[in-house]
Amino acid sequence: MTSDGRLAGRRVVLGVSGGVAAYKSAVLARLLLSEGAEVRAVMTRAATDFLGPATLAALTGHPVVTSLVGHEGSVSPHTDLGRWAEVVVVAPATTATISRIAVGLSEDALSATVLATRAPLAVAPAMHTEMWEHPATQRAIATLTGDGVTIIGPESGALAGGDEGPGRMSEPETVLEAVVAMLAGGLGGTSILITAGGTREAIDPVRYIGNRSSGKMGHAIAEEAARRGAAVTLVTSSHLPSPGAVRRVQVESAQEMADAVASVDPDVAIMAAAVADFRPSTNHDAKLSRADGPPEIVLEPTPDILKTVADRVRRPFLVGFAAETGSLERAVEKARRKGVDVLVANDVSQPDAGFAVDTNRVTICWPDGRTEPWELAQKSVVAARILDLIERELGRTR
Ligand code: PMT
Repeated sequence: MTSDGRLAGRRVVLGVSGGVAAYKSAVLARLLLSEGAEVRAVMTRAATDFLGPATLAALTGHPVVTSLVGHEGSVSPHTDLGRWAEVVVVAPATTATISRIAVGLSEDALSATVLATRAPLAVAPAMHTEMWEHPATQRAIATLTGDGVTIIGPESGALAGGDEGPGRMSEPETVLEAVVAMLAGGLGGTSILITAGGTREAIDPVRYIGNRSSGKMGHAIAEEAARRGAAVTLVTSSHLPSPGAVRRVQVESAQEMADAVASVDPDVAIMAAAVADFRPSTNHDAKLSRADGPPEIVLEPTPDILKTVADRVRRPFLVGFAAETGSLERAVEKARRKGVDVLVANDVSQPDAGFAVDTNRVTICWPDGRTEPWELAQKSVVAARILDLIERELGRTR
């Protein structure tokens, strides 16, 4: 144990649920301890089938809580642990544990501890692909994300029983970094939804109407938000990578993006995607043939995703983007009309700003007419400044 690590003196509760990946929790405990954290472990009964509590007790130097009663020195181990924790991380988290937490079922020591804490929570799912992709699991994950829970992974790779696919628990090093971010960053326990990339609106199975958005701006914001400990959901059409501690929902069309956004109830929403305003009213099942001559493509409006978020009863702090060419006058008017708290306007006609490049030059517009131009900067820097602004607006100190 070290007293000068990044987690020196910080109190971490490590929850372990029942899966083969339970062995990784021992490595995670060691990593947390080596960063100077104090660690206490709580396991479900099923977890003890995969990893002996004696292992975690020996590593952490404390008895492991495995049931709600019968613990020496404590009549209520789950509330003791919950109050003691500065952060709780459940790794691995099975679909049963995730679902229990999502609906508030405190029937075992682990889920009871999670419900008895006010500390930020992270879960690292581990399960077979079918279970991960099941709508019930995805609903529970969306609920947890909306509650400000950081979802770490899962990754795609080798699974129990020789299977392969998404569902593998993130490596302990990735989980450690997420815990460090949650404790260090000003956005721990804050759920943030980010949209990124350009949507593609199908004409036929091979052709689409699209735009030049690469997703770089939105992904930079997602990366920075995760670094600051936020529980991030990234709804993206881009194929750029995203950090392990970001819950990623891959979409293609405006409708898919709208559906994914509708399933999340965040504290903050940042809409950096370039969403098509119109789509072909007919998506042909078969490829259109040149021999049939130029097709007549009739367009219809797509859902205004930003507007639906602005109209919610539980409305998040809302940041819109505006891609303008030339004068930013329209952006100020847009900030008012779209019902955002802040609008980030960029002049996409400049070669070093907007679509696809690594830099951006933005003007921040408030609905009351105030504007603040920012100088040209890397998108990572613009992302950090946007999150600084959000932290200030939310009253977080930095
Ligand atoms: O992805 P990059 O290559 O890094 O480029 C970054 C970017 C230029 C795409 C980004 O900085 C940006 O400006 N994103 C918004 C682009 C856009 O669609 O602007 P808009 O003025 O058309 O839309 C205004 C706002 O409404 C945006 O927040 C947009 O996400 C949202 N919108 C638009 C249409 C629609 N149907 N639904 C929406 O939610």
